[in-house]
Amino acid sequence: MSTTNASTYRPDPADLPLLRGTAIDGMPAYEALVNEAQTDRLGFWARLAREHLTWRRPFTRVLDESNAPFFKWFDDGVLNASYNCLDRHLDNGNANKTAIIFEADDGTVTTITYLELHARVCRFANGLRERGIGLGDRVMIYLPMSIEGVVAMQACARIGAPHSVVFGGFSAKSLHERMVDVGAVAVITADEQMRGGKSLPLKSIVDEALAMGGTDDVHTVVVYRRTGGSILWDETRDCWLHEIEEAQPDTCEPEWVGAEHPLFVLYTSGSTGTPKGVQHSTAGYLLWTSVTMNWTFDIQPHDVFWCTADIGWITGHSYICYGPTAVGATQVIFEGVPTWPNAGRFWDMIARHKVSIFYTAPTAIRSLIKASESDGSVHPRRFDLSSLRLLGTVGEPINPSAWQWYAQEVGGGRCPVLDTFWQTETGGHMIAPLPGVTRLVPGSCTLPLPGIDAAIVDETGVELPNGQGGLLVIKQPWPSMLRTIWANPERFRHGYYPPELGGNLYLAGDGAIRDPETGYFTITGRIDDVLNVSGHRMGTMEIESALTANPLVSEAAVVGRPDETSGEAIVAFVVLKGPRPADGDAKQIADQLRAWVGKEIGPIAKPKEIRFGDSMPKTRSGKVVRRLLRSVAKGEAISQDVSTVENPAVLHQFSQHT
Ligand code: WT7
Repeated sequence: MSTTNASTYRPDPADLPLLRGTAIDGMPAYEALVNEAQTDRLGFWARLAREHLTWRRPFTRVLDESNAPFFKWFDDGVLNASYNCLDRHLDNGNANKTAIIFEADDGTVTTITYLELHARVCRFANGLRERGIGLGDRVMIYLPMSIEGVVAMQACARIGAPHSVVFGGFSAKSLHERMVDVGAVAVITADEQMRGGKSLPLKSIVDEALAMGGTDDVHTVVVYRRTGGSILWDETRDCWLHEIEEAQPDTCEPEWVGAEHPLFVLYTSGSTGTPKGVQHSTAGYLLWTSVTMNWTFDIQPHDVFWCTADIGWITGHSYICYGPTAVGATQVIFEGVPTWPNAGRFWDMIARHKVSIFYTAPTAIRSLIKASESDGSVHPRRFDLSSLRLLGTVGEPINPSAWQWYAQEVGGGRCPVLDTFWQTETGGHMIAPLPGVTRLVPGSCTLPLPGIDAAIVDETGVELPNGQGGLLVIKQPWPSMLRTIWANPERFRHGYYPPELGGNLYLAGDGAIRDPETGYFTITGRIDDVLNVSGHRMGTMEIESALTANPLVSEAAVVGRPDETSGEAIVAFVVLKGPRPADGDAKQIADQLRAWVGKEIGPIAKPKEIRFGDSMPKTRSGKVVRRLLRSVAKGEAISQDVSTVENPAVLHQFSQHT
């Protein structure tokens, strides 16, 4: 472990950035781009699409709005995403550049060059083709963080098979639900995954999901041997990843697809019980990952980029699999967890791999602040973090004190902290500071990227003046936006272009406010029934459905409560079919229900607290009084008017902890 004298320089964050970006050189350059996008919107996007992507056949149409809000971008153009992420780098002198520095849970490091990554993707793509998988076939990916994860995604992209990656922390039931919805023909998984020194099953969860039925189209399960742990084997369906790659040529003609061909479907939570399959395009999506790698991250040839997200989330798609490779960057991929073998793991890795751009979630920062307070040896100041030049955050609001700590203790007062606001649906950054451009304000994601027409409106779609909070909307389509919800176009139209707002504004689902002087945006949190727990998006209805599926449960209501580390914590109010459990039994039943939710959805959805009452507090018309339950969850004394509540006495029962 490397140690250094910490920088004692502690500037005011308003003095940051001290670094000069090169992609957009200063505020006048930013303003010129914003202006270009406003005055010649289509010309602006066309220019970027020509500069950033390599086309097999150039597009002649930029935007087709005839079937709005089902927009099409560059739609007569033809290209391949994997070609853009790999082949392009082989002829420009970057063939032997390191593409990935992979660090396993146990610290073993493997590196792979662009040339080798290209060969592996080609071999794997050939292997998939040999199994009859090709254009338009959907492939599930349920893999740990690994080079193989990127190889699998890129191989799918190469043969035009949209992938659907499911985070390894989701249960068999969640995997099954997604597999059925997307109509998968194959699954790519591993025997097990390693996290924090422990092995966790993956293949057996796939087996369990496939045993649930309705997945007859799945003819192939490809298994990456990660641990060698024992697994069951179905000769008719299962095959080893290394065997699939073996004996395949190192080249593979890409499937040239139209710009609008779905690159992937990624499931995310909404305000109803079922997750929605967010469908992204090939060209528009890839374009924005490449542009934002340049603009937000100011990526340079010698940078070592590290995004700590999992490939199971959009951040891992855009800023691990596609963005860094599209621009030919060197990146770190990490299999394990930030707290193992100790909470200095991130800092130690930054020091050893000389990471220059580091991108993580506020939750991780907050938990590492806590850890370094109780154990000085894992404090970032104990490590040589001098390679860092840019820091980023994503996934949830970052509180100003965590922002300051990140800027000063991790960034040594040298590195701008880029608070990037975006969503699964937006494909890439929407509102974010740019290095060398934007004066930073802790807690604000600052200004929209050029081309992104963000605004704040009231419930009728009328734009609000700065200083007045409202709904965050995007007024013009942009290339990397979702195209639809898989198999549910109406959910797309109604959910994202609600008629109440006039039907022509993209509704992000977040509240926001703009600073009266600077016009900076601050995100105030979701306006729907979506929770953000440790940067993971969870629907309250999803968790409620899981709870009520338990034979003991009659009714359940789930709300979020602010939590110091995870941002929000899940609190469930439960009415059992039997009597309200006595104090002694309540804990045991709560544990049982938590385990149940873990099985139904995945461990990330387990409620932190479960409270029991005789009935659910409702209005006389039968609506659960969520607003009051949120106060109860926070431990607030109920000062609000409860006269509309049918059964106010249960609020007091629910105030008790188990
Ligand atoms: C929701 C989207 C985007 C990748 C990870 C999450 C919240 C995201 C920020 C930020 C405040 C943020 C929003 C958004 N969010 N980034 N910088 N500041 N809130 O993607 O799972 O689709 O969640 O995360 O509430 O709507 P996601």
